[in-house]
Amino acid sequence: MTSPPSHLWLNALLQALQFVQSTWLGTLYTLGITDDSHGAPAWPWGLRIAGENLVIDVALARQFAWTLAAIAFAIVCLLVALFWRRAWRWLSVAAIGALALAPWPSPSLWLTAAVPTSFHISPTGFTVQSIARGSRVYAAQCAACHGADGRGEGPLAATLNRWPPTMASGLLGRRADGELFWHVLYGMRDDHGVTMPGFLGRLSDREVWAALDYMRVLSASAGMAAGGSWPVPIALPSVSVKCADAPDRQVSAWRGNQRVRVVAIDASHPAPFEDPRFLTLLVQRSAAQAPVQAQTPTFKAIRTAAAPSAERAPVNVTPLFGVRADCVADSPQAWQVFAEIAGVSPSGLAGTEWLADRDGWLRALAPAGRRGWADGGLMCTTTTALPDGAQPSPRADPLTATLRQMDDDPVRFVKGGFVH
Ligand code: HEC
Repeated sequence: MTSPPSHLWLNALLQALQFVQSTWLGTLYTLGITDDSHGAPAWPWGLRIAGENLVIDVALARQFAWTLAAIAFAIVCLLVALFWRRAWRWLSVAAIGALALAPWPSPSLWLTAAVPTSFHISPTGFTVQSIARGSRVYAAQCAACHGADGRGEGPLAATLNRWPPTMASGLLGRRADGELFWHVLYGMRDDHGVTMPGFLGRLSDREVWAALDYMRVLSASAGMAAGGSWPVPIALPSVSVKCADAPDRQVSAWRGNQRVRVVAIDASHPAPFEDPRFLTLLVQRSAAQAPVQAQTPTFKAIRTAAAPSAERAPVNVTPLFGVRADCVADSPQAWQVFAEIAGVSPSGLAGTEWLADRDGWLRALAPAGRRGWADGGLMCTTTTALPDGAQPSPRADPLTATLRQMDDDPVRFVKGGFVH
């Protein structure tokens, strides 16, 4: 198992490799050396650096990093030799020595098969609308094999050469997005023939990306059902947000600087009070029926809706508790999507809360029945992130402890191999 410092340099190394490969691809494209494929530059080779192998094998990553350092050192020596002629012998010996001593890892370990779309980034923005579209595509085209719950046990599964994989695993996180996209469009095969049929011509690119968005949601709910946590990091779905009379904004506008708490409310679960530690985003059962849609200031609407049976706290603005949250997800599909992420039926969702970190990853969940935060709310974490003795202070309330843990343990590299 790895220790926290190796997570830090490993993350930096993976980000740098990703950056170098995609910048290189962009340069080739600009120079006209490579074409495009499905709307973005096509990776022209059958191989790429296997970030997913480096991330699970720290010894390999260390070897790789030392070799890169040796190559960089050799290049610097040779450049200096060009200008400092008198020292060229020594500099050449140093360069050759560094290259000879470098621990060159076997290419079969750090290279892996690539496809033209390996470096493609999903264009959907992981919006609630895209997830809802993906849910329809999935039900029509994929559930027969992959199962309605994503655990690979659909009615056709037993008739196939190979059992479809379960989404309750880290599978979607181990693959580059663009490779998943390619596999769905062009299918997959092994030595015995086709294992999964391709959907080129039957589904548009947009529908395939949407189905993959939905599979991430399924992964969260299948993971909850199987082991109580999310096997791959899941982003906070993007949705248009209405705050009182302010113009609509996308929730992604807060990414990078603000934590977000999402709360599913109904008449018996009133909106919580604002808390300066995060933006509170309310999800309502049916935005179509809610007074919000009738251009009433939202906070007033929620207070009115909440008034009859509020049990936990006073409904009005009070000097003691402050103001009730009034930013509402403005999408009729949000309720359904958040119910799937929580792995509960839509009727049981009210009262559920989530926390998203400043980078826009959903991290923690407080189920409806629990009425607020208890210990262990973090759904996506490294087991090694907290060094011995760095347990959250026992006196911190559970919400504060969860926030602290979330901030101390950010989601790391997620493009084809991740640590989280
Ligand atoms: C006929 C059955 C069948 C259908 C229909 C099907 N799949 Fe698959 N799928 C499989 C099997 C089997 C595998 C495992 C293939 C393998 O590992 O070789 C798989 C693998 C996958 C993977 C993992 C890919 C990877 O890189 O390992 C994804 C993602 C996926 N399917 C998505 C979809 C989507 C999206 C749809 C619907 C648009 C779909 N599948 C429809 C049978 C199916």
